[in-house]
Amino acid sequence: MKMKLLVFSLVAIALAQAAEWKPAHIHPSTLPRNGQLMKSKISPRITGGDEVEPHSLPYQVGLMIPTDDGTAFCGASLLSPTTVLTAAHCGELSTNIEIVLGAHRIRDNEDTQVRVNSSQVVVHPDWDRLTLQNDLAILRISPAVELNENIQTVALPTRANANDDYLDDVATASGWGLASDGAETISDVLRSVQVPVGANSGCNLYYFGVIQDTHLCTAGDGGKSTCSGDSGGPLVASTGELIGVTSFGISFGCEIGWPAVFTRVTKYLDWIAENSDVEIN
Ligand SMILES: *[C@@H]1O[C@H](CO)[C@@H](O)[C@H](O)[C@H]1NC(C)=O
Repeated sequence: MKMKLLVFSLVAIALAQAAEWKPAHIHPSTLPRNGQLMKSKISPRITGGDEVEPHSLPYQVGLMIPTDDGTAFCGASLLSPTTVLTAAHCGELSTNIEIVLGAHRIRDNEDTQVRVNSSQVVVHPDWDRLTLQNDLAILRISPAVELNENIQTVALPTRANANDDYLDDVATASGWGLASDGAETISDVLRSVQVPVGANSGCNLYYFGVIQDTHLCTAGDGGKSTCSGDSGGPLVASTGELIGVTSFGISFGCEIGWPAVFTRVTKYLDWIAENSDVEIN
């Protein structure tokens, strides 16, 4: 039991508050910052990534979520003109979520941006914030959003790929999350980072048994990681399909080399199909 409490004080959900655009950790670490850990592998940004070519990831979505403490910020992916996929720990915060499509500079009123409110939020019924299982939610858009060169859907894995573990694939994670552990606010511009998919067994050495088949981990070497504010956002395989939804990381730093953890999309193809108009091949 002690072990469990320790584990869950270690993990922080990668959510950011947009009012002050600050990260809000659901399970803040009670540990002091460890000098030795912090010294190793420090590098800037998503963390460790770069600003993307504007509108080169047209499936990337930003979410403004009204909460009692102000507006929370999350990422998401466009699956169809009526369907957005994000994390449950983002979707559960409100039923009226503002969905920002076609954005690069998220704080600006770019003329490429389209903003719509969710017509419905479907949080995975088995989302469990203690075991961090099933961290997935679907937002519905009505009427359907119009696609253009800046607003495009992302492919899902096919049923034939449902058992592929994507081990060692170099995937792309993206978002407006904190660009460094020192940052106090989310990034002005969309950033991405290339990260190799790691083995769940190795990932569990960091997260003490939290990691299940329904999770996917990427290696954090070189400080490359997702960070607060990237929650709900995409991890896309080198072959172009969405394989992860940003879920959680370690709360005392995104740049310290720990794996980032995603909800493994291949495990939820049926749930997505049952709750949207998205066709799975
Ligand atoms: C979404 O809903 C909020 C609250 O009702 C409203 O203030 C905002 O203008 C809406 N946004 C859009 C794009 O309709």
